[in-house]
Amino acid sequence: MDDLFREVVHRPKVLPISRVVKETPTTKTFYVDCPDISSKVRPGQFVMLWVIGTDEVPMSVSKADKNGELGLTVAKVGDATARLHELGEGDQIGVRGPYGNWFDLSGNRLLMVGGGYGVAPLAFGAEVALSEGKKVTVILGAKTSDELLFRSRLEKLDVELKISTEDGSAGVKGLATEVLEDVLERTKFDCILACGPELMLKKTFDFSEEYKIPLQVSLERMMKCSVGLCGSCCIGPYRVCLDGPIFSSDKLRKIKDEFGIFTRDASGRKIGL
Ligand SMILES: Cc1cc2nc3c(=O)[nH]c(=O)nc-3n(C[C@H](O)[C@H](O)[C@H](O)COP(=O)(O)OP(=O)(O)OC[C@H]3O[C@@H](n4cnc5c(N)ncnc54)[C@H](O)[C@@H]3O)c2cc1C
Ligand code: FES
Repeated sequence: MDDLFREVVHRPKVLPISRVVKETPTTKTFYVDCPDISSKVRPGQFVMLWVIGTDEVPMSVSKADKNGELGLTVAKVGDATARLHELGEGDQIGVRGPYGNWFDLSGNRLLMVGGGYGVAPLAFGAEVALSEGKKVTVILGAKTSDELLFRSRLEKLDVELKISTEDGSAGVKGLATEVLEDVLERTKFDCILACGPELMLKKTFDFSEEYKIPLQVSLERMMKCSVGLCGSCCIGPYRVCLDGPIFSSDKLRKIKDEFGIFTRDASGRKIGL
């Protein structure tokens, strides 16, 4: 990891947005040409996205093409993401990275569980896993059918796709984890990879322990520096920016009294999930 860390772009590269794609009513993908990052980033890693004049926030990479294009898929939730959603082609943003560890795609049969914008790194991971000849099942969950992120991108891939929506407007009515138990009953997987709301991740962890399948989840904590200095992203003995964001079952067992229970705000105060 040390050599890789030295190769990271640590100063924000200020680049024009090359295109913007509206994915759902609340989510857009912003593309920039950034071969320095797109050539080395792996599924699960993130960049720090500088919305100039507003804030710098962590974002998973959802697409990285050999031609240098880098895609970041962003849900509009607060100040920085709302300002970003106002930007268009030619407007400038900053990116630095890639940071953190990545999904281990070893094993032949992978199950991916994505809720909301958590599908962003998993869609990238599914494409890489398929290119390596793996079999991939994806459980895609959202509140409503129009919020199913990357549904058509996944439908074009050779994956087994299971859909759930909380209002029942597409697929199974309920949470992604309700589909999960049914899928685990019928098929044996080498690994589960999950990204989404932390309560979904905790439930997925509980199932993975019950069915004895190795799990990797992508965790979110408040990030300021992203290089291990500020401590804002701590969970138990780990810094999510350096030791994560991907946490495997053995590490999740060590943070059982925090994972799925509370997070921290920008001042470090505990917030229940
Ligand atoms: C490793 C990682 C990968 C992520 N990938 C994606 C992604 O692919 N797509 C996506 O839409 N979102 C992603 N996020 C979440 C994204 O960083 C927050 O939604 C964003 O920071 C919100 O900023 P805001 O100013 O719009 O909202 P605010 O109103 O400032 O905050 C809204 C909520 O966003 C979270 N947040 C705010 N600032 C930060 C910060 N500096 N670090 C971490 N969380 C913060 C907090 O939970 C906060 O309550 C990721 C977060 C992490 C840690
Ligand atoms: S964000 Fe500063 S230590 Fe992780």
